[in-house]
Amino acid sequence: MEHVTLEINGKSVQAPKGATILQAAKAAGIKIPTLCSDDKLEPYGACRMCMVEIVKHGRVRLVASCLFPVEEGLSVQTDSEKVMRIRKMIIELLWPAWQQYADEYGVAKSRFQPGMTDCSLCGQCVRYCAEVKKENALYFKGRGIDRRPALIDGFRDQCSQCRECFGLCSGGWVVASRV
Ligand code: FES
Repeated sequence: MEHVTLEINGKSVQAPKGATILQAAKAAGIKIPTLCSDDKLEPYGACRMCMVEIVKHGRVRLVASCLFPVEEGLSVQTDSEKVMRIRKMIIELLWPAWQQYADEYGVAKSRFQPGMTDCSLCGQCVRYCAEVKKENALYFKGRGIDRRPALIDGFRDQCSQCRECFGLCSGGWVVASRV
């Protein structure tokens, strides 16, 4: 398999061509926080918690590491000031679903209105049901701040017995509250 060499946080890292920055970092023991990424599911790019700063052809950009492929000579910063600022903002916006990261990022509370953010919209429940279970019992209902996962009529009994997606939910209770 063809490999490329890139730099992550100043460390030279080799990764298979086609791998994502997130996969390369993980293999090199460099932690990048994620919420909508799961090895069992296709990359989705919804939460942006995995955002990193890259330098490509002299240009600095922010990209979602779970989607962005490694490239020869790419320089990546996983914890730059800008990246940390964005992650803190995301934690606040999606409070309380993401309190798992609050301590780590020193976010004590959210500036945003409570009750708006019980679901992070990571889509793991909907995607797991479709991609792994091949059932499509869940879908996204509504738009904007009203957008939420919802159960398709007729699936209630089946979902109550399965419950496999419950463990994927960052809020833990978001899907459970709808089944
Ligand atoms: S883990 Fe990359 S966008 Fe969610």
